[in-house]
Amino acid sequence: MTAFTYRDGVLHADSVPLPAVADAVGTPFYCYSATQLEANYRAFAGAFADQDAAVCYALKANSNLAVIKTLARLGAGADVVSVGEMRRALAAGIPADKIVFSGVGKTPQEMRAALETGIFQLNVESAPELEALSDVASSLGVTAPIALRVNPDVDARTHAKIATGKKENKFGIDIAIAREVYAKAAGLPGIKPVAVAVHIGSQLTDLAPFRAAFERVAELVIALRQDGHDITRVDLGGGLGIVYRGDEDLPDLSDYAGLVKGITGNLGCHVTLEPGRALVGNAGVLVSKVIYVKTGVERRFLIIDAAMNDLIRPSLYEAYHTILSVNQPAPGSDLVPMDVVGPVCESGDTFAVQRPLPPLQDGDLIAVLAAGAYGAVMSSSYNTRPLVPEVLISGKEFAVVRPRPTIAEMLAADHIPSWLK
Ligand code: LLP
Repeated sequence: MTAFTYRDGVLHADSVPLPAVADAVGTPFYCYSATQLEANYRAFAGAFADQDAAVCYALKANSNLAVIKTLARLGAGADVVSVGEMRRALAAGIPADKIVFSGVGKTPQEMRAALETGIFQLNVESAPELEALSDVASSLGVTAPIALRVNPDVDARTHAKIATGKKENKFGIDIAIAREVYAKAAGLPGIKPVAVAVHIGSQLTDLAPFRAAFERVAELVIALRQDGHDITRVDLGGGLGIVYRGDEDLPDLSDYAGLVKGITGNLGCHVTLEPGRALVGNAGVLVSKVIYVKTGVERRFLIIDAAMNDLIRPSLYEAYHTILSVNQPAPGSDLVPMDVVGPVCESGDTFAVQRPLPPLQDGDLIAVLAAGAYGAVMSSSYNTRPLVPEVLISGKEFAVVRPRPTIAEMLAADHIPSWLK
């Protein structure tokens, strides 16, 4: 199922034609389908329905309040990595006892805010962080329920920039020394180790790395219990991939859930899952307008009004995103290889290289698919380009859930010091 389909020759989000949204908000814009978000959440949570499992949506993938709220209404918890994300989760109605705080460098201020809120769990990633948390918790007179995030030294077989489970990565505590660190944690005031956490990377398209990591976690839980720790939970992170090209062979959700059950079922642990991309990725598109079609000496360029600052994944990770013409091409129309590029003065401002596309001309709309995860959240205003607006569609309705700032608003954010006035 996908919420973005051609109807009467025009690409729609749910029942709304994308050109109607473009008329209302201008281009470029992000457009999310509530129907797709809901379907994704239900499918994911449904796959784990027979396990003692919580789905804590990784807000970093898309932290628009309307998106979070759409998932929160269905029962989602949250995985947050900053006090800002924690505030977003709470503002969208996710209770503190469903929020996990992850991240490799939580500050004492963030720890304090999390503990004051009564958060479900903090995932600690280093011995110094453990000591800092012990200090903060003791000063507040509370006990912090923690997991240690372990680094299982597993190759996630994904892009190097989003692989996090190898020894050389900055993440987590080397699983080989985890027992020592748990022993230390148990001796610290204000710390209660209750869980083991792991997250080995993102956009995984194969279950084997998950299996290797989860098995190591399960072995560790058993060892820690032998050491006398009362470990009642595991947090298995996120990372499940989505379709970008169309030809990926992705694991079924039921196989992923079955893998988790097979490995952790006998432990009697509560399981936390932290999917980000799998919940929101295919629920969003970036819609952009063709500014010019430029015929170079060797290549044809489709110059569009979205750029790397709006969606950085192709520039940063060489990520492939399917690109569709919003007007459905006539059957049998010739496809011409084009480089799809933005207006920013960097060669990296490229969405696609030599991509076969139907005939397109100035003013035509295109949609960059699977842009719901790590799209708007990673955007910037480089080149003083206003952040693109975000629109949420639900059936026939649509709402601007984050407006495009005006240039005047952008300029007003800067301050000229008195000596320059
Ligand atoms: N949990 C932890 C501790 C994480 O670090 C992440 C993502 C997730 C959960 C959610 O992972 P997901 O289910 O979305 O794969 N900007 C990159 C992806 C960075 C992922 C960072 N961590 C991209 O655009 O591909």
